[in-house]
Amino acid sequence: MARTLKTTTIEGRIVRYIDAGDPSAAQVLVLVHAFPMGTAMWAPQFDAFPGWRVIAPALPGFDGSDAPGPRRNPAPTSDIDGYADQVLALLEHLQIQRPVIGGLSMGGYVIFGLMRRAPGVASAWILADTRTTPDTGERLAARHRTIEIARSAGPGAIADDMLPKLVSAHTREHKPAVVTELRRLIEGQSGDTIADATRVMMTRPESTAVLATVRVPVLIVVGEDDVITTVADAEQMRAQLADAAVVRIPGAGHMSNLEDPDAFNGAVRAFLGRVGGVG
Ligand code: MLT
Repeated sequence: MARTLKTTTIEGRIVRYIDAGDPSAAQVLVLVHAFPMGTAMWAPQFDAFPGWRVIAPALPGFDGSDAPGPRRNPAPTSDIDGYADQVLALLEHLQIQRPVIGGLSMGGYVIFGLMRRAPGVASAWILADTRTTPDTGERLAARHRTIEIARSAGPGAIADDMLPKLVSAHTREHKPAVVTELRRLIEGQSGDTIADATRVMMTRPESTAVLATVRVPVLIVVGEDDVITTVADAEQMRAQLADAAVVRIPGAGHMSNLEDPDAFNGAVRAFLGRVGGVG
């Protein structure tokens, strides 16, 4: 079901988010979106977890949120931890305490920022199709190309460039509606937002070490055919964590939550059943 974005103002900045699931539930699942889609990528998850409220924040610039601005504390810069600050500010604003926080890909990079900036904020974490390692070599060169395409040709050209890598061959062949929806989600964002987010991602730090500081349960989900953030990346994260399990989704690529919502939601539901009430 399509959801209406809510709008609020925090420290003078427009922040948009989806507030879904069970509105009266005390237990909250926060889902941080991937690049370069906004909150609507979580549509198959919004009503999938009975007894849970689901909040999906739009990162700076996405879905009409204000573009990146000064980080709250301390440096006047915009980086992946600045994105994490925006999620923290929204949780504070909504008076949400100790939610389970999940993110897919760029959403995962934001979670590493949350682990650095506010280690006690979550009662558990979900890391989907993401990785702790920064961009180097060819990936950095590709980021420069993405910025150039986003600024000169816009989101349609970004969709052309990214779609072949975002989903598995199985999804492309058997679930073409997923590809159509992904294009719609990408084309809904502006070229400037896409360029800004690319710059933020390409300057993100190495985040492997922060996993060793995590003291709460972690679910790692990965599409078996993900070529952007691979099963090996997922296993590498699991090895650093005290309490983590990897769920692999056969036939899915990078956008596992959209490519196989039943498998994705089943893994998350089982995890929420286990950690619900923690904290
Ligand atoms: C994403 O899905 O958020 C992006 O593919 C992440 C990335 O490009 O590193």
